[in-house]
Amino acid sequence: MVPCGSIRTLVCKTEDNYNIYDDELDSLESLKKPRKKLLFSTIALIFALGSLIITVYFLTRDTSPKATYDRINDDKLRDLIEVSPAAQKLPKTGKLFCWVQTSTIYHDTRSLAINETWIHRCDHGQLFTSEKFNDTRIPYSTVFAGIPDNYYNLFFKSRYAFHHIYSNISSEFDWYLKADDDTYVIVENLKAFLSTLNPDEPHYLGYVLKPYLKNGYNAGGAGYILSRAALKIFAEKLYPNSTLCPDDIYEDVGIARCLANAGIYPEDTRNAHGQNRFNTFSPTETFHQTKANVDWVKFLEKKGYEAFANDLVSFHHLSPDEIRLFDILLYRVDRKQV
Ligand SMILES: *[C@@H]1O[C@H](CO)[C@@H](O)[C@H](O)[C@H]1NC(C)=O
Ligand SMILES: *[C@@H]1O[C@H](CO)[C@@H](O)[C@H](O)[C@H]1NC(C)=O
Ligand SMILES: *[C@@H]1O[C@H](CO)[C@@H](O)[C@H](O)[C@H]1NC(C)=O
Ligand SMILES: *[C@@H]1O[C@H](CO)[C@@H](O)[C@H](O)[C@H]1NC(C)=O
Repeated sequence: MVPCGSIRTLVCKTEDNYNIYDDELDSLESLKKPRKKLLFSTIALIFALGSLIITVYFLTRDTSPKATYDRINDDKLRDLIEVSPAAQKLPKTGKLFCWVQTSTIYHDTRSLAINETWIHRCDHGQLFTSEKFNDTRIPYSTVFAGIPDNYYNLFFKSRYAFHHIYSNISSEFDWYLKADDDTYVIVENLKAFLSTLNPDEPHYLGYVLKPYLKNGYNAGGAGYILSRAALKIFAEKLYPNSTLCPDDIYEDVGIARCLANAGIYPEDTRNAHGQNRFNTFSPTETFHQTKANVDWVKFLEKKGYEAFANDLVSFHHLSPDEIRLFDILLYRVDRKQV
């Protein structure tokens, strides 16, 4: 032990201090424990509240698909439209006007196959898209510049397209076809079918699906046709009226709803053998009936070869090369008689 002296005082003091310190330490510990507990429970509470809020958010959040375009912007769209030189040269009257709905991501794939194959067989055939193509020999208009590319905006694109055609291209064709960029159309067969009908009566023709509307709707991908009379009603009466032609997240259902509000319904477009001329499914899906569903399809086709009309008009869900193959077999291959 170090004896007490001058140092002792110090040591004693120090010891005292130690004691005091220990005491303080004890009292601090005793204070700290509940504080720590308080801190833990606060953190736990915040965490629990946070999880609750996140859970409630995910359970109640609106996950329904939504369009990201508002029709009040329609007036601004016209100034954004660029028409390619090839499209400018197309006639303003004739039997059949065709427009194919495409978008920038398909310019180098699907759009090219459409451009190379059936679109030129329409009297006036164009691609409607959002941005300019590199190749001005492609007949296109940027009708959708200003409408964001989004699956749920397709109704706004078609709605605006029909109005644009009527008011800014021509209202003088007999028939107006809308098709997708993965649709193949045998234009001669379409014209032959249409020649049996009067374009001055409102007609709305295509492949009929059952859901959503009492009289069903024509599937967008099979291609659907409005007669001149139906286009006039659509552009003048339906397009500007949000009661008659309300917003929709589905292009084909939305257009059908507008037309139904003017008493224009899908018609039976099957041939004399009860076969569908228009097809919303691919040839494979049609042959094997993998998509045949009585709840969806109004005029269910037979299985196998029986499903294929000899006056076939359209198929859908085709790759660009399948579109080319269709065209090669129909227009470039001769079957020799031997
Ligand atoms: C168009 O131009 C872009 C950018 O220069 C290029 O990546 C694309 O391959 C071009 N497409 C065609 C069809 O030439
Ligand atoms: C589009 O079609 C036109 C007319 O057949 C043709 O001249 C042009 O080369 C085609 N463009 C492309 C990029 O295939
Ligand atoms: C639309 O029509 C107006 C008036 O007829 C014309 O000035 C305008 O250039 C047209 N726009 C397009 C994109 O065709
Ligand atoms: C829209 O159509 C409804 C039903 O026909 C009609 O009552 C209303 O006046 C129309 N609205 C406009 C702005 O034309």
